Amino acid sequence: MRRPLIAGNWKMYKTSEEAVWLATGIKKEISGFKEVDVVLCPPFTALYKVNEVIKDTNIKLGAQNLFWEDEGAYTGEVSAKMLKDCGCQFVIIGHSERRKYFFESDEWVNRKIMSALNNDLAPIVCVGETLEEREKNLTIEVIEKQLKGAFYKLGYEEMKKIVIAYEPVWAIGTGKTALPYQAEEVQNFIRRWLKDNFSIDCADNLRILYGGSVKPSNIKELMREEDIDGALVGGASLEVDSFTSIVRNSIN
Ligand code: 13P
Repeated sequence: MRRPLIAGNWKMYKTSEEAVWLATGIKKEISGFKEVDVVLCPPFTALYKVNEVIKDTNIKLGAQNLFWEDEGAYTGEVSAKMLKDCGCQFVIIGHSERRKYFFESDEWVNRKIMSALNNDLAPIVCVGETLEEREKNLTIEVIEKQLKGAFYKLGYEEMKKIVIAYEPVWAIGTGKTALPYQAEEVQNFIRRWLKDNFSIDCADNLRILYGGSVKPSNIKELMREEDIDGALVGGASLEVDSFTSIVRNSIN
């Protein structure tokens, strides 16, 4: 049985003061909630302060990106080691916004995953097709290429720490959620791919999240699907009420 995981990707929102306020509100509502793993991913600048708020609770901290070197002359970058130092246990890697605006390739995603794993951070690896790719019937091909690139040379032991997030680009921030069966179709493919390329155990245990306009009103039906183990939430993670409702609704 896979434990549900709901992660909030705050993207480039919230000053550290606003972040503390949001994390405090979330903590009040759900810190006693034991059935679901909850991860908050604020911007880098708020990680330290949000960690102060949630460190003695079940709520975990994640970052939205990292650079693969531990340290060095890489102006503007942040390493896995630095994220650990702020209290992170998770890190989002390969989000479509990073692929699109910062030209991150599958090879970069792979290097970032290795670095996260070497530093004991659990990567939340994002994959997903654009609308154009979906319309050309290329969805499965695109996802397979992203999976192959991301997990190149990873072994079964390393895969144990991975979480995958299927985020169709056309559903991100558009209010247009993939229908549960559409998400399930791809997520089931991902699980079969894991079975074929790693092992049955890996496929059975690895959590696959759905991301793209998740709201309190659609999380239940998404979670009913066999291969959807949780959600990576953008917009709706920025308010206490909507995020905590998603967490609650994810298990009933
Ligand atoms: P929205 O929930 O705002 O569509 O964003 C999804 C996302 O990109 C999470 O990483």
